[in-house]
Amino acid sequence: MILQTMALPLSCFLFFLALQSHNSVAQTHSNITLGSFLKANNDNTSWISPSGDFAFGFQQIEDKGFLLAVWFDKIPEKTIVWSANQGNLVQKGSIIQLTKDGQFLLNDPKGQKKWSATFVGSLYYAAMLDTGNFVLASQDSVNLWETFDNPTDTILPTQTLSLGAHLVARFSETNYSNGRFLFAMQGDGNLVLYTTSFLGDQAAYWSTETEGIGFQVVFNQSGYIYLKAKNTTILNYLSDAAPPSNFYQRAILKHDGVFRHYVYPKPSGSGASRWPAAWSTVSLIPENICLSTPSSGGRGICGLNSYCSLGSDQSPTCQCPPGYTIIDPHDERSGCRPIFISQSCEGPSQDADLFDLMEMPNTRWPGDGHDYAHYYKVTEDWCRGICLRDCLCTVAVFEDGNCWMKKFPFSNGRLDDSLGGKTLIKILKDNSTLQGVNSKNNDDSTLIITGAVLLGGSAFINIVLLLATSLTYFYFKNRRSKVLHQQRVTLGMNLQSFSYKELEHATCGFKEEIDHGAFATVYKGELPNERGNFVAVKNLEKFVKEGEKEFETEVLAIGRTNHKNLVQLLGFCNEGHHRLLVYKLMSNRSLANFLFGNPWLDWCTRVQIAFGVSRGLCYLHEECSTQIIHCNIKPQNILLDDLFNAKISDFGLAKLLSADQTRTTTGIRGTKGYVAPEWFKNMPITAKVDVYSFGILLLELLFCRKSLEAESNDENMVILAEWAYDCYIDRRLDLLLQNDEAAMHDMKRLERFVMVAIWCIQEDPSLRPPMRKVTQMLEGAVEVPAPPDPSSYISSI
Ligand SMILES: *[C@@H]1O[C@H](CO)[C@@H](O)[C@H](O)[C@H]1NC(C)=O
Ligand SMILES: *[C@@H]1O[C@H](CO)[C@@H](O)[C@H](O)[C@H]1NC(C)=O
Ligand SMILES: *[C@@H]1O[C@H](CO)[C@@H](O)[C@H](O)[C@H]1NC(C)=O
Ligand SMILES: *[C@@H]1O[C@H](CO)[C@@H](O)[C@H](O)[C@H]1NC(C)=O
Ligand SMILES: *[C@@H]1O[C@H](CO)[C@@H](O)[C@H](O)[C@H]1NC(C)=O
Ligand SMILES: *[C@@H]1O[C@H](CO)[C@@H](O)[C@H](O)[C@H]1NC(C)=O
Repeated sequence: MILQTMALPLSCFLFFLALQSHNSVAQTHSNITLGSFLKANNDNTSWISPSGDFAFGFQQIEDKGFLLAVWFDKIPEKTIVWSANQGNLVQKGSIIQLTKDGQFLLNDPKGQKKWSATFVGSLYYAAMLDTGNFVLASQDSVNLWETFDNPTDTILPTQTLSLGAHLVARFSETNYSNGRFLFAMQGDGNLVLYTTSFLGDQAAYWSTETEGIGFQVVFNQSGYIYLKAKNTTILNYLSDAAPPSNFYQRAILKHDGVFRHYVYPKPSGSGASRWPAAWSTVSLIPENICLSTPSSGGRGICGLNSYCSLGSDQSPTCQCPPGYTIIDPHDERSGCRPIFISQSCEGPSQDADLFDLMEMPNTRWPGDGHDYAHYYKVTEDWCRGICLRDCLCTVAVFEDGNCWMKKFPFSNGRLDDSLGGKTLIKILKDNSTLQGVNSKNNDDSTLIITGAVLLGGSAFINIVLLLATSLTYFYFKNRRSKVLHQQRVTLGMNLQSFSYKELEHATCGFKEEIDHGAFATVYKGELPNERGNFVAVKNLEKFVKEGEKEFETEVLAIGRTNHKNLVQLLGFCNEGHHRLLVYKLMSNRSLANFLFGNPWLDWCTRVQIAFGVSRGLCYLHEECSTQIIHCNIKPQNILLDDLFNAKISDFGLAKLLSADQTRTTTGIRGTKGYVAPEWFKNMPITAKVDVYSFGILLLELLFCRKSLEAESNDENMVILAEWAYDCYIDRRLDLLLQNDEAAMHDMKRLERFVMVAIWCIQEDPSLRPPMRKVTQMLEGAVEVPAPPDPSSYISSI
């Protein structure tokens, strides 16, 4: 499909191809045995492949720390092709080791586990192969785990990406944490590039449109990168600029969103020595990233209010329009904010005199849902005039008698010579009149600028809750607040207090309902002028506690939680009888949308979700300052972000909704099919009720089936938990899998997971393991003993 041969013309390669073409020979590799380790320090200790081309070990990243990685070792750049620990750095003195008991563990200097490879089977040795693949293998040389199966942002020749695999761009050139772009070989067969700037904001900017036929991305030995169908037909070439064998190659989803195929002359290669010793691009996708408008809007390739322009090497740069400045100078893609006070929509209309429209040649912000007016058959003067008088107009585009006006914020901006027409952006004529604007509208706009944040007439945030480490909190509550602090507090807590009116506005009058439960209704909303624009606003209709204090105490407890498997609370509203919570919107909705009767969620993703939920629960039960019992674990309460990471929602609400969490007076909380038997008996309610619900959820996740299927023909199959136990005893778990080949081939893990699930659903709460143990058993860190029969649980329902 799209293919561009860049800096190095293909013909040159063909010439060198003629000169040089030995293929690499059989791989003999020295094995790294159990007990071996590497320590992160300033010596260059690493495990090197037999040819010396690749190394595995710690690489120092500036003076910030060490990254456990695989890199090209023979070139001065030591280019990293894979990294562990989600790109997070570790301290000097950290150790990666093949433990004597067969684990592959990264520990910090204090011996705390930072990362480990997850695999099934008995580890015997590790090896850094000449392909750049680092493998963990069993005694009979079966690969149990390999970096090629767990790619980060790069693929190498001989590597493939199967359905469900993805590459995540790093944050910046030298920051290896997850960035803003995603290269996804989707389960549906489509190969898609996404922006994932913020949750709820995923938008595709390139795709092969091969739903139902795409099967695998291949980077073959001779350097072609292509998408093939199941029947091996090649559907799309991502790159066909194959270089000869005396070049190193890699393909990477760069931090700027461009997928590039690079080559580098091997230091020893004879013909290659005429090429500069540097990585050169031979092909890239997309051809012009600035012009590829993400399908569903979002923030675009650059952030909001900024625009994208293409450099000579086809790399995008992000810039701010005149009168605007970047939000976070350390993050090119953070978007821009005005450095002047926006036109007030409340003041007298002669405000218009204070503003001017500045022409921005060849720049556009295309249709993105923020367009709010289109006039046609008008003159340019008329277009200018109407925009100046309209307080909401921040950008006007005039072309051939058409006048489009946009309001703040605007996304997907681009600069390109091919764009005609005129783009006019509204700015304050001169900033010495700033005071003039203020004094004119008297008390309505006496704004004090603090911390370089300006509050515009249309700006939205006016109350910010600050939480000091001591957990004492203050808030400045005043429409047209005098001081606006935008501080990130050390606890990672940044809860915002909203007025009911603001949330009404954000949800367009509670128009779009996303979920309706017994206690609350959830609406989709959008906070203007805010990072993480899309939110889920939860209106608690059955709030039993009256006092404001209790509500805020609970909200703060929820707000203090901070874990990647929990949905993050952004703010709340506590006004009169209104009690609302504002969360980040998860793009992929809940697990319930994917689990039943839909083959979309592949086995690997399901396994990852199981890990995620167990870790999230473990955190709630054991790592929060006050234990939080969820009481309502079910697929509907497991939300999925754009990378299909599980995020538990609705936690901490049990206390808000009933007077006493340990013994409810309002009856059974939770949902039929997931509630633990002790709810029906006169027994105390403990964290073990969540363990029970997790067990049921785990079975559903493993077999993509509801826990109760009343209309099943076979009576033995109605209750999943019973049926699963029977199949486990008969060693016929395959009966439960409906043509799930990946799971069939992972029978050992499946069996382990089923055993864990059976432990979780023991009728006697004291037999159920705590969530920490459950997590360890799932991860294979501890043995799972044979579980007893939980069957009596049925009789009590
Ligand atoms: C590595 O270990 C495997 C399994 O014991 C063995 O078959 C292989 O020959 C070893 N390779 C080398 C180079 O020692
Ligand atoms: C580490 O590697 C660099 C560059 O390859 C080299 O100059 C330096 O001497 C090495 N240091 C040690 C301690 O081996
Ligand atoms: C990398 O970027 C992320 C996201 O902004 C940030 O949290 C992290 O601290 C950065 N890491 C380094 C080493 O600068
Ligand atoms: C790689 O793919 C290209 C294009 O399909 C093909 O011509 C070439 O033979 C393949 N090379 C190998 C080693 O499979
Ligand atoms: C393979 O599948 C593709 C896409 O479905 C189809 O166009 C092609 O004809 C098939 N080729 C063979 C040899 O079956
Ligand atoms: C006033 O405008 C100039 C140029 O547009 C800008 O550099 C300066 O930062 C502005 N000053 C204030 C206080 O906004």
